[in-house]
Amino acid sequence: MTTPLRLGIAGLGTVGVGVVKIVQQHADLLSRRSGRPVAITAVSARTRHKDRGVDVEAYAWEDDPVALATREDVDVFVELMGGSDGPAKAATEAAIAAGKDVVTANKAMLAIHGQELAEAAEAAGRVIRFEAAVAGGIPVVKALTEGLAGNEITRVMGVMNGTCNYILTRMQSAGLPYDEVFEEASKLGYLEADPELDVGGIDAGHKLALLASIAFGTRVDFGGVELEGIGEITIEDIHRAADMGFRIKLLGVAQMTGRGLEQRMTPCLVPASSPLGQLEGGTNMVVLEGDSVGQIVLRGAGAGEGPTASAVMADVIDIARGIRVATFGQPAAGLEQARRARVAAAAPYYLRMQLQDKPGALAKVAAVLGDAGISIDRMRQYGHAEPTAPVLIVTHKTTRDALELARSALAGTGVVEGSPVAIRIEKV
Ligand code: NAP
Ligand code: HSE
Repeated sequence: MTTPLRLGIAGLGTVGVGVVKIVQQHADLLSRRSGRPVAITAVSARTRHKDRGVDVEAYAWEDDPVALATREDVDVFVELMGGSDGPAKAATEAAIAAGKDVVTANKAMLAIHGQELAEAAEAAGRVIRFEAAVAGGIPVVKALTEGLAGNEITRVMGVMNGTCNYILTRMQSAGLPYDEVFEEASKLGYLEADPELDVGGIDAGHKLALLASIAFGTRVDFGGVELEGIGEITIEDIHRAADMGFRIKLLGVAQMTGRGLEQRMTPCLVPASSPLGQLEGGTNMVVLEGDSVGQIVLRGAGAGEGPTASAVMADVIDIARGIRVATFGQPAAGLEQARRARVAAAAPYYLRMQLQDKPGALAKVAAVLGDAGISIDRMRQYGHAEPTAPVLIVTHKTTRDALELARSALAGTGVVEGSPVAIRIEKV
């Protein structure tokens, strides 16, 4: 009889319970695919006596996740508590020091401490696997580290926060303002305990930073991700963008340029007819581009019990099979510290402003844009409202710096009310 791979699971919330269910329901399948049984030996959570919808009585209980991580009868420490520091990090470090492999869904911890943890794991001859940390059930980490390992990756892009995509698509389909849909998402339990992690783009930024590290062989640099959340997106912009053939998405883009590594997680316009433009609800989509393979599009559930546990189990099975891949796809010590690109590559922009509806007003706007070196591609004015009317402009490619210059100059023309809204249009 082959020896089982013994799991110690810290965290029995949404994801932890999903993992317990898979181990309990698919024991034979896991054993056949892994070449050895996969067994849970011990578990930990904050509250011991709690109905979690699964029976965990057969497993040893530890109040302290560090004690769980270092148990003799645990081969793989499965960290499903969350949090960038605190017990998750302490227990992960303890597990590595005690010679355990680690599987985690914790993007916050890896985005901040990934490099030091990966180095510690490699020094100890252990692996850290994190498929579940990025885009839930979508096997994107495996796609990048293994399936596309022969490619030079040119761009990684995607919608990686289901809550934001739910909010933006719901605003559009129901014609509801941001605040109302935010409340709705909150009642549905979609938001993280700290909602800013979702709507501020932080959660998705963590995920992008992890993918960028694998894609470009660089150290995880979450601090280098340009972050902008969706809190300022109005229903008016969603409708106007739709009129021009676009959808607004919280879009992550990472690419290596001559100016350094560019990482952005910001609201962008994408063509409504593109796969990203058509992505509805809480679904995630990751687009990977490689020099040989071209473009790969991966779409699926980015969160939830089943999809996330599915990704955790994929990592567990790899370990049971003896597949040992470096945390970020190559030895951590060899990962380079990327130079940060100071400004994003030039792109077309969507500009919306309230313009006085009188002779010469538009000429002043055109002059300001011209002076900033910005060329107009398309323009549309809505109605003839007094005293101002909404005007939309789609520019040709320009830089954010030129655009900001133009925005402040527009405020001084006397014909533009307030500050124009500017949203990047991404070529997808
Ligand atoms: P969750 O439902 O809030 O569950 C967290 C679990 O950790 C709970 O069982 C909690 O115990 C336990 N816990 C918290 N602090 C602890 C401590 N100090 N000691 C022992 N146990 C502790 O979280 P989740 O949604 O399952 O998420 C877990 C991880 O997966 C996070 O890193 C998250 O970012 C990641 N993730 C989640 C999803 C998703 O769809 N939920 C998707 C992708 C990645 P009690 O139950 O006793 O309170
Ligand atoms: N809050 C995240 C989301 C959960 O909405 O996508 C999965 O990481």
